This record gives sequence, structure tokens and C-alpha cells, in this order.
Amino acid sequence: MSTRPFWLAGTAATGDTEMTVVNPYTGRTAGTVAVPSVDQIEEAVAAAHAVSAEAAALPAHVRADALDHVSRRLAERAEEIAQTITAESGKPIKWARAEAGRAVSVFRWAAEESRRDSGELQRLDTDPGGTGRMALVRRVPQGPVLGISPFNFPLNLVAHKIAPAIAVGAPIILKPAPATPMTALLLGEIIAETALPGGMVSVLPMPNDRAATLLTDERLPVISFTGGQFGWELQKLAPHKHVTLELGGNAAAVVLDDADLDWAAGRVALFGNNQAGQVCIGVQRVVVTDAVHDEFVSRLVDAVEALGVGDPADPATDVGPLVNEDAAVRVAAWIDEAVAAGAKLRTGGTREGVTVAPTVLTDVPADARVVREEVFGPVLVVQRVSDTDEAFATVNDSDFGLQAGVFTRDLQTAFRAHRELEVGGVIIGDVPTFRADQMPYGGVRKSGVGKEGVRSAMTDLTYERVLVLTGIDL
Ligand code: SIN
Repeated sequence: MSTRPFWLAGTAATGDTEMTVVNPYTGRTAGTVAVPSVDQIEEAVAAAHAVSAEAAALPAHVRADALDHVSRRLAERAEEIAQTITAESGKPIKWARAEAGRAVSVFRWAAEESRRDSGELQRLDTDPGGTGRMALVRRVPQGPVLGISPFNFPLNLVAHKIAPAIAVGAPIILKPAPATPMTALLLGEIIAETALPGGMVSVLPMPNDRAATLLTDERLPVISFTGGQFGWELQKLAPHKHVTLELGGNAAAVVLDDADLDWAAGRVALFGNNQAGQVCIGVQRVVVTDAVHDEFVSRLVDAVEALGVGDPADPATDVGPLVNEDAAVRVAAWIDEAVAAGAKLRTGGTREGVTVAPTVLTDVPADARVVREEVFGPVLVVQRVSDTDEAFATVNDSDFGLQAGVFTRDLQTAFRAHRELEVGGVIIGDVPTFRADQMPYGGVRKSGVGKEGVRSAMTDLTYERVLVLTGIDL
């Protein structure tokens, strides 16, 4: 198995060390990747800084053609990519294939958005002082971006960093999660086929401690981070930078009296557990009204027990391993802790190595970690409430606020949910675990700041610059 090079300013390079990537399910080596030296990291930053004016001035057709090329090549190499995702992350192959398809669409959207963006013309003669003047408002890149991506979507959350950056003409240095760098490197290889200036994209796998200088380097004025609560430290470390944080949550699905219980149980079972619950918007809390609680729990347990658990390479598998044994041990400990505090274990609760059985808990004390924190594991906590008022209050009783799902068929309740739930996105008739890649995506409170989603990220990476023209007859 040869060592995969990293991408330093668009060119394949080998560094001073290597990292071994382990398949979480088999425990065997999935691959080895080259790690840049401190000098090479500096080289990438210098290249990004040097190319930023050229990148910002790239014509739309150059940016769009590059993005379209990447989209096409991702589609052509989708199966290889999906296999790589599964090997390095333990994500079941069916979800890895879905992820590859989403990245194709992220780059396609970015191409379309980069063609669309024309700025805005404003008349200024609305007051006497503006007579004969007009303004052109255009967005320009804030500067080179440091993108830091997590292990749970080794391709698509990298795509959400890189594609918007290319679309706006901002250089980017991408640091993939140390556990899952191989798919990001594959993407780097495809990007290197484009006509973009070399310095525009670097993909640099490295252990987290080697990235310290990148966080504070003034030549990278934007940080886009997806991951855990460590993200808040970035704001402290780099107070002058523009920092976007997508930090997950403990997403709730609300099941109201009028819900289709079979549909709701099936969706909650699947999307509380797919990818072993390692999805920022995976269902964790299930808030169910009293009238349907017992019937719903019974159907939920049946649906959870019907999930295919095991080898992620098997296309029938819904739920694979966690990313490593430490994560599995932690999740199992949180389940045990909740049960010791009085929670009822309806199914699951066991751990075998890196795999935790999909688990349903009811009657969980409100202060248990499986309720209050982000579990990031295959655990569903059902919370009984009396009515819609209490259901929405329960959703909002969280330190997080990324997305929520509401199973209702009532239009007024849908709009009320949108008004009252303090989250970045409300999904009606389904779980919170729905994301179309063009949608604005990002949360409130400890879930983060700023938005991703192709167009929202493009806004986030840029600022408005006004051009005022004088002596214009309108
Ligand atoms: C995430 O887990 O952060 C992203 C979820 C998604 O893109 O579906």
C-alpha cells in the first residue's frame, strides 16, 4: 500500500512523516498518508497568501469550470470514493455512496452560484446628498481560508469548505480530520486537474497539534471549522479572525398526536442510528406527546431492532462502528450512567469493541448526559410530554440548537414550530437529520456561529464592498 501524497498548493508532495489510517471496523490499516513538515505548512500558507489577489480576480467562468470539472470527476470516481470513505471512517457503504452523491451536487451548486453572483446596483439619489450618484455593491473574499473538517463526512464536509471558497475566489488550506484524510486527498487530486492557480488549494493532513500555527497565522483571516466544542477555543485563539463554527448538537424529533407513527418510528430509528449516530443533526432526543407515547415507543423499538448492524462494507448494513474504541467506550458509559440514574433501557445498551448496539432509553432523568450533551452515538432518548407547548419547550431546553424535526400534519403547527423552535432549521414531517446541501446550515447557542450551505458559505467567506459612482444621470 503506497503512501498517499498531500496537496501542497496544488502539487502532490511528500513530507517528513506519515500517518497511518485505521479502518475502525477491521482494525487493519486502511492506508498511509504523508504529513507535511513545518516548512511545507509555511509554504502552503505563503502560496495561499501570494495567490489571493489573482484568485479574487479569476473570471467566473474559470471558477465555475473548475467546480463543474470537480463535480463531474467526483461522479465518475464515486464508487472508489465511497469505498475509501467506508474504509477510513467505518461509515456503512450505503451512506458512503450517498455522501459521494451529495458532494457531486455541492460542487455543481457552487459552479452555478459562482455564475449567478452579479452584485447589486443601488440608486443613491433617494436623498438630495446622493443626487447623481449610484452604488455597486459586490462581495469580495475576506482572504485565504483555513478549513478544518471532521471525520464523520470525510468528503462532503470537506466539499462544503472547498467548493464555496473556490466559488468566491478565496484560496483555502484544508486540514482534514486526522482519522479520515484519505478521501480529502482524493478530492485534492481531482482539484489538481483543474486550471485553478496552484496556490489556491492545499490539502494538508496532520495531527491536530501540528496545526497550531495555522490557527493564529494572520495570513489566513478566515477559519471555517466543523467539529466539537473545541471550536470555541478558536475564537479565543484568533479573536481578529472571521470564525465560522458548526459544532453539532443533541437534535430533537418531536412526535405529536397527529403524526403518522409508523413513518415517524421508522425515520427516527434509522436517522438516530445511521453512521452509528455520528451526525451533527442525527436524532438524539425524541419528544413524544402522552397520547401516542406508548404506541410510538413500541413501534420505535421494533424499527430499531430491525436495523442491520455490523460490517460497514456490507450494503445491507445500516449501523456500523463508531470511529474508534474510545468513542464507543464513552457512549456505552453514558448509557450505563443514565440507566443507573433510573432510565429504562428498551433495547440495545451493549457494546462489542467499536460497535454500540442501537439503543432506546425512556424515563431518562432530565440532567443525564444522554439528554444534555451531544452523544454522537447510536442512542435515542424518548422524552414524554403532555402537549405541543411542552414539546416545543423541551426542544428549546437545550444548550444546542442546530436542527429539529416535527412530525405533524397540521399546517398551523408547522408554522408555529418554525416561529418558536430556537434552532437553525426546522424539518416538518421528518427527522432533523435532513440536509439538502444548498440549504443554509448552522445552529445557535453551543451549536455554533455562521452558516454553511453553498450560497450561505459564499456569503460568509466574503464581505460587501461598495463602489460609489459620482456624476451619473439616472
Ligand atoms: C454534520 O454532521 O455536521 C453534517 C450533516 C450533514 O451534512 O448531513
